[in-house]
Amino acid sequence: MSHSFFRDTYIEVDLDAIEHNISQFRRILSKDTQILVAVKADAYGHGAVTVSLAALSAGASHLGVAFVDEGIQLREAQIRAPILVFGYTPPHAIETAMSFDLTFTVFDREHLAQIAEVAKKVGKTAKVHLKVDTGMGRLGIPPHEVISFIHQVRNLKCVELEGIYTHFATSDDLNSSYYEQQVEQFEDVLQQLEQEGIYIPLRHAANSSAALRKGLKKCNLVRVGISTYGFKDVPNADVDLKYALNLKSTISNLKCLPRGSGVSYGKTYTTTSDEWIATIPIGYADGIPRQLSNIGMAIVGDIRVPIVGRVCMDQLMLNVTDAMPLSVGDEVVLIGSQGDQMITACEIADLTGTIHYEIVTRLGSRLPRLYYQKGKLVCTRNLLYDD
Ligand SMILES: Cc1ncc(COP(=O)(O)O)c(C=O)c1O
Repeated sequence: MSHSFFRDTYIEVDLDAIEHNISQFRRILSKDTQILVAVKADAYGHGAVTVSLAALSAGASHLGVAFVDEGIQLREAQIRAPILVFGYTPPHAIETAMSFDLTFTVFDREHLAQIAEVAKKVGKTAKVHLKVDTGMGRLGIPPHEVISFIHQVRNLKCVELEGIYTHFATSDDLNSSYYEQQVEQFEDVLQQLEQEGIYIPLRHAANSSAALRKGLKKCNLVRVGISTYGFKDVPNADVDLKYALNLKSTISNLKCLPRGSGVSYGKTYTTTSDEWIATIPIGYADGIPRQLSNIGMAIVGDIRVPIVGRVCMDQLMLNVTDAMPLSVGDEVVLIGSQGDQMITACEIADLTGTIHYEIVTRLGSRLPRLYYQKGKLVCTRNLLYDD
C-alpha cells in the first residue's frame, strides 16, 4: 500500500518539541537526577513508541507505563530502556512482564510473594519499585510499614528492590500545603532508610509539576509526563516548554444555509442569517468532546470560528461566515495554531469541565499520527492498518 492513511484528519507530533522539553528538564535538574518519561496512554495521545525514542535520545533514561501491555508495546518496538509499570500487575501477567524485562511496582506483601514465586520459577531476578502512599490514597503502603516491607523484600532471593517512590496529589496547586506535607513524609521515609543503612538505588516522587517546583531532597529520578508534551502547570517555572501536538482536519463540505436552517442532531443550532457552514470530518469518536457542541472553536483561514450544532460521532460543523472565502480541502485546526491564532488542549478542557490530560489522552486511535523532525515528516502511524 503506498499511502499509510487516506483520512484528511490527523495529529501532527513535533518530535523536536518533545526533545526540547526533555532538554529543558535536563537543564534544571541536577546532574545525578535521571528522567523517567511517562508514556502511558499512548504517550498521552502522542504515540508511545515514537515519543519514547525521541525522549530517550534527548536524555531520558527510563520510561513509565500504566500496565504490562503498554510495556510490551515498547519492547516489541525494540526499546531497551528500563520500563517501570506504575500500576498493579495481576498474577496472570507476572511471568510475561518478566519475560519482557518490565519493572514492577509493589505495595502488597502477597503480591510481592507472587512475583518472587514466578521469578524463582523462571530463574530470573524481578526488579521492583516499592510504592509508598504519602497522601494520594491510591496505590502504596503507609510510610510506617516501609522498613518492615523492605526487610521482607530483602529476604526474597529473586527480587531486587531497585526503587522506592511516591506520587503527589496536589503538586500543580501552588496554594495547597498538602504537597509540602507529602514531600516531608517521603523525605522522612528516605531519611529513615539512611539511618537504617538501607540503600535503594532509585528514589523518586516528582511528576512534572513537582519536578518544576524542584528541591526534593534525596531523590534521584523524576517521572515527567504532561510536561514532556509541552504543558507547564507551574506558571513561573524556569523552563520554556513547547506544545508537541496539533490536531488538524480539512473542510469536506461548504454551503451557505439560509436564515432559519437547522444544523446537526437535535437542531440545537439555527442559522440567524444566511450563514456559511463548513462540515469537518472529525467527531466525538476521535476525542472531540461532545460538550463542545455550540461552544467550541476551531481555526480556519487564520481566524477562530465557532462549532455550531451538536458534535457528531465523525463530523462537526463550523460557522465559517467570517472566514470566507474558503474552499473544500482548506485546513482546519482543532488543537494548535494557524496564523497568529491558537487553541490549546487547556482551552478545550476549560470549556468542557475537565483537564488537558483528558483532552489529549482521549484523542482517538483512528486518528493517523504524523511525526515531524526538523520540519520534515519522518514517519506516520495509522493504527487502522499499519503493521
Ligand atoms: C505514578 C505516576 N508518575 C508520574 C506520572 C506523570 O505525571 P504528570 O503527567 O503530571 O507529569 C503519572 C501520571 O499520572 C503517574 O501516575
